[in-house]
Amino acid sequence: MDIFTSLNEQTTYSSTQLQLILAAWVLTSPFDKSNKVSLETGDVVEDDYDKRSIYALLYSIYRTVGQVKDEHGELYEFTFNTWGYSWPSAWGESPINASEPQKFGQTAYSGLFHFSDLKSYINERDGKVKIVEMGCGTGAGANHICHNILPNCTYQPVDMQSAAIESCQRMFAPALDGRLAPLHADCTKLPMDDESIDIVVVNETHVTEMPGVCGTEDQEFFNSARRILKKGGYLTWGNAIPDATWQPCFDYLKSIGMRKVEECDVTKEAIKAREDDLPRVNIYSDHVLDKFWGFSIPIWGKKRRKEAELALKNFYRHPGTNLYNDMVDGTDSYKVVLFQKL
Ligand SMILES: C[S@@+](CC[C@H](N)C(=O)[O-])C[C@H]1O[C@@H](n2cnc3c(N)ncnc32)[C@H](O)[C@@H]1O
Repeated sequence: MDIFTSLNEQTTYSSTQLQLILAAWVLTSPFDKSNKVSLETGDVVEDDYDKRSIYALLYSIYRTVGQVKDEHGELYEFTFNTWGYSWPSAWGESPINASEPQKFGQTAYSGLFHFSDLKSYINERDGKVKIVEMGCGTGAGANHICHNILPNCTYQPVDMQSAAIESCQRMFAPALDGRLAPLHADCTKLPMDDESIDIVVVNETHVTEMPGVCGTEDQEFFNSARRILKKGGYLTWGNAIPDATWQPCFDYLKSIGMRKVEECDVTKEAIKAREDDLPRVNIYSDHVLDKFWGFSIPIWGKKRRKEAELALKNFYRHPGTNLYNDMVDGTDSYKVVLFQKL
């Protein structure tokens, strides 16, 4: 059993299934010579994992673990699968409540709407804009936008993971009276009509990961966004990716008729967010690992627990891990960018 490649994005795994999957991963440890997880930094190289498997595991785990307390005793369910950043002082006062456990995720989504050109476009339409989000995860960001930023918008969050879309249906859609309509789909093949959408949101979607290139999936992803956008509509996109990948993506977007309006670098604020979020992530990681009895299997349980902890924390860009170090040394940068369809 290889949890990095074998799970399926069409499936929501139950608590019992997760127990068995993780126990099988522990029991196959003696035969596994691949050493996929670096025991120093938690790094798992791109070729050694499949994002569909990793997210299938994570979203089912978040659902199974349910509500937990943060370091201040605030209850929350882990729904923002987002590194986020602290609100840049250059943007004025932060609109986010400092006691909110997932404040950096909320900040990332609010930040996508801080651009003055985008605000003008929305105001000219009395806030009645149609939004599609590509790679929405559980839809926690979509929910935040619908309630706190754009109370008159309609929002269709899309993700390829069925467990994530089920969480969105369960937790967020009912209170929004049809304004939030989650969809399970691959965003390179969106079903919406051509030129029907005002704003496309992309927040930390796991594309554009290959250093120095805008790859085939990335191009298909951007083609989809461009196709569904109305003329004059906007793509607002934030992520931490290899620094060398931004320019090839910008060049590709330009080549398909998308004009870059604004670009903000928030890497410094993203590093700060990971440092400020350290206690919460430590508590959450312990919760997850304590939940699975497979990790108590003698000898191999302890080894796999360490690997799982490091891989999980690396995935969260936790201080000391490879992905955190990549932001500190400039290999990766976190940017928030706005493009307009010409
Ligand atoms: C790091 S998570 C971010 C989720 C969410 N945007 C958030 O910030 O909480 C990346 C998400 O992108 C989704 N994703 C990546 N490629 C996708 C694609 N081609 N189509 C649909 N979803 C995709 C993954 O399934 C995953 O849920």
